Amino acid sequence: MSPLGNIVILTGAGISAESGLQTFRAADGLWEGHRVEDVATPEAFARDAALVHQFYDARRARLGEVEPNAAHLALARLDAEWRGKLLIVTQNVDDLHERAGAKRLLHMHGELKRGWCLACGERFAWKGPMSPHAVRPELVDGLSVSSQEEVQSFDKLRTNGGLGDLGRSELRTNGSNQCPSCQAEGQVRPDIVWFGEMPYEMEAIEAALFHADLFVSIGTSGAVYPAAGFVQTANYRGARTLEINLEPSQGSIFFDERRYGRASEEVPKWVAELLG
Ligand code: APR
Repeated sequence: MSPLGNIVILTGAGISAESGLQTFRAADGLWEGHRVEDVATPEAFARDAALVHQFYDARRARLGEVEPNAAHLALARLDAEWRGKLLIVTQNVDDLHERAGAKRLLHMHGELKRGWCLACGERFAWKGPMSPHAVRPELVDGLSVSSQEEVQSFDKLRTNGGLGDLGRSELRTNGSNQCPSCQAEGQVRPDIVWFGEMPYEMEAIEAALFHADLFVSIGTSGAVYPAAGFVQTANYRGARTLEINLEPSQGSIFFDERRYGRASEEVPKWVAELLG
């Protein structure tokens, strides 16, 4: 392919799996340990903001414990060296692409490290917990907790001082959920696109897909639209399409070429071939 061609790359949770972040739909994935309806919808937030905050606070805290892997680094290298147009569209809410150095990047499902004030509508960078409640990450991160009751009973225990020395060092409290723009208290939500909400930057993504010569999908199961439909848009516009994943995705038949293996091996190999 000419080094001036236009490339659009879609990434999903599989690219961050080898960094130590859980995917969603694996047997030990996030959606096995949590019900989507409890933590990833606007209705869940309206019903039980504390639970939703705890889920995302734990995931935000986890970012501090992981590093970009060889796949993120290879895409950052491609971004830096590719002379044509290039856009990395990630469904991931982690910050591993940018920490690897990628610049031409869009987060279509939002970012863990951003907040959105429901009082004034501003969006802004956010560090640390967003919940005014205490969080013990291992209780809400992964399989150790799968139900709301367990989180609530932990909260009760904490409130009654019933923890003793056990786990006290792991407690983190914030006590503040204040908008840095309008100063409203308790109105900041994670700037994450939940089920039923419109992904970000769709116009820019569609425009890039319309002019793409090559569309590459990496580490995504193809279960969630509109991202799952990008391959068909790219096909329709005449782009060549490539899937790199651990296993065939739900839309694998739509790709011209498929490479199955670990992202940390397959992505650097593909980038090296492309850059020559
Ligand atoms: N290398 C490559 N692919 C991998 C690896 C790996 N090391 N590990 C897992 N995978 C693949 C899995 O085989 C699976 O097909 O990554 C894919 C991850 O799929 P999902 O867990 O469904 O994640 P994703 O496609 O990003 O989910 C899309 O769903 O719940 C929402 O908003 C959430 O953005 C997310 C969206």
